[in-house]
Amino acid sequence: MMRTHTCGELRPDHINQTVTLCGWVQRIRDKGGIAWIDLRDRYGLTQIALEDGVEAENLRGQVRTLGREFVLSVTGIVTERYAKNDKMPTGGIEIRPTALEILNPAKIPPFLIEDDTDGGDELRMKYRYLDLRRNPVRNGLMLRHRMAQAVRRFLDGQEFIEVETPVLIKSTPEGARDFVVPSRMNPGEFYALPQSPQTFKQLLMVAGFDRYFQIVKCFRDEDLRADRQPEFTQIDCEMAFVTQEDILNTFEGLTRYLFKEIKGLDFPTVPRMTYADALRDYGNDKPDTRFEMKFVDLTATVQGQGFPVFDSAETVLGINAITCAAYTRKQLDELTEWVKRPQIGATGLIYARVEADGQVKSSVDKFYSQDELHKWSAAFHANPGDLLLLLAGPDAKVRKAMSELRLEMGQRLGLRHKDTFSPLWVVDFPLLEFSEEENRYFAMHHPFTSPKPEDLALLDAPETIGQVRANAYDLVINGVEVGGGSIRIHDRAVQARMFDLLGFSPAEAQAQFGFLLDAFEYGAPPHGGIAFGFDRLCSLFGGADSIRDFIAFPKNNSGRDVMIDSPAPISEAQLKELSIATTVGVK
Ligand code: AMO
Repeated sequence: MMRTHTCGELRPDHINQTVTLCGWVQRIRDKGGIAWIDLRDRYGLTQIALEDGVEAENLRGQVRTLGREFVLSVTGIVTERYAKNDKMPTGGIEIRPTALEILNPAKIPPFLIEDDTDGGDELRMKYRYLDLRRNPVRNGLMLRHRMAQAVRRFLDGQEFIEVETPVLIKSTPEGARDFVVPSRMNPGEFYALPQSPQTFKQLLMVAGFDRYFQIVKCFRDEDLRADRQPEFTQIDCEMAFVTQEDILNTFEGLTRYLFKEIKGLDFPTVPRMTYADALRDYGNDKPDTRFEMKFVDLTATVQGQGFPVFDSAETVLGINAITCAAYTRKQLDELTEWVKRPQIGATGLIYARVEADGQVKSSVDKFYSQDELHKWSAAFHANPGDLLLLLAGPDAKVRKAMSELRLEMGQRLGLRHKDTFSPLWVVDFPLLEFSEEENRYFAMHHPFTSPKPEDLALLDAPETIGQVRANAYDLVINGVEVGGGSIRIHDRAVQARMFDLLGFSPAEAQAQFGFLLDAFEYGAPPHGGIAFGFDRLCSLFGGADSIRDFIAFPKNNSGRDVMIDSPAPISEAQLKELSIATTVGVK
């Protein structure tokens, strides 16, 4: 080995030992007579001190040529520090060097390699290998590593077998857009990269594997956000001979294990909420339950008093922003502008303050008597000092806007602590959702999800199809959809009926999914599973909003890798070889 110790390892116990460390120059302080170098590696920082003396004198010339991020090998004697630094694990010692070798010089980095860097996002992504030297980013990836190990330990202990499924598969019309790969050997034909290993894991159940998992890359060509990447990682799992209850319990177990192992937390039992209740109370199928602030439906209470905005609305909803009655006119105007932004989409905001004497003062006092306003505050169980915020309009739109407003108020009131974890199973998702745009039903989870047996009859009449519930569930933590899954269809006839509902002709269904339909005729066991968004789980554990810092080499918001400059055109010769005739994308 080129080194005897790492830069995070030495302690007062090592005093008087001769050691060799290798690492990068974090900082140099040269005070004439004395100079210090902070040497950094993955494990920490160690101070190298050149004080007056013959040996130090010999090294001075070399030190003057050093710059930030030079790669060094330093041999020297571990010495007790005069001024100890309690904040550093190695702060009790320093190295008095006897030899110093520059293993590689370095250009001045384009941004500070410090916890608080001056580098913008794009610059950090372009030089990601430098960004990865920074503690917060490296710690994110170390957390990811520890989580992956813990996941494997837990699932291995539960008899799950890790199986790799193919990456070059077939494009299917459901779900997000596929990334496709042309096949040279099959001109004009394309593979698709998997959006998930869904059908393969089901086939593994038909094959009798019983319990499967895989920490696996998935690819989706969709619009990107802070919690979405075009290639991301799932903890993908499937089990045979199970009910929904078994799956929820098993993966609650995994979640609990991870919280204990990684964060030292005893994770509470995960409560359950139906999809319908989540939409009713939070306007959202992934509610952040770290705080209450449930919706109160005031439609019946407020209508018929001559206020046209409320009278003409399908729904009038409110939330109680407790303790916010002191909001100034300016703050309320600013909040009104906030809800009117296109992303939120409300037409206006009505408010009512519950004053210290219990009187309610609203922005629509003209239309409502004090008695009427007291009915509002009673509906919220509001106390003096509370502020009621109301939105009115078409039901779905109001719920969506109110959901955003609730999250915003939760944020402003400091109710969304990063170190508080509020898990929730959302269950009983609808099987299908109607797309006005395409005038047809889509599978809400995916086409392999089974309807609840008690709702099967509802599939027979067009007006009740939308009411059919699925054996589908999501794990939501702090308003983040961390995972989702379902009990699958394992019967060929039911699966064929599902494809029919989704608008596939029998021939199309056979062409797309014949392999699965056929497999169901060879003894498919009842089965179900779940996939966790591994990047999202890591960012949640790491207390960050973006999943990027938990991915070694992520893409930017336009799906580009700015470091390797991809995607990129390919040569005409390559295109020809792939039988792709186009003038777009030619180098
Ligand atoms: P689903 O599509 O719900 O289910 O995906 C499972 C989980 O993967 C995460 N996720 C993402 N994370 C980052 N970037 C993305 N673009 C992205 N898309 C999804 C989410 C989500 O909950 N095959 C089914 C699972 C099953 O039924 O077993 C599936 O893929 O956290």
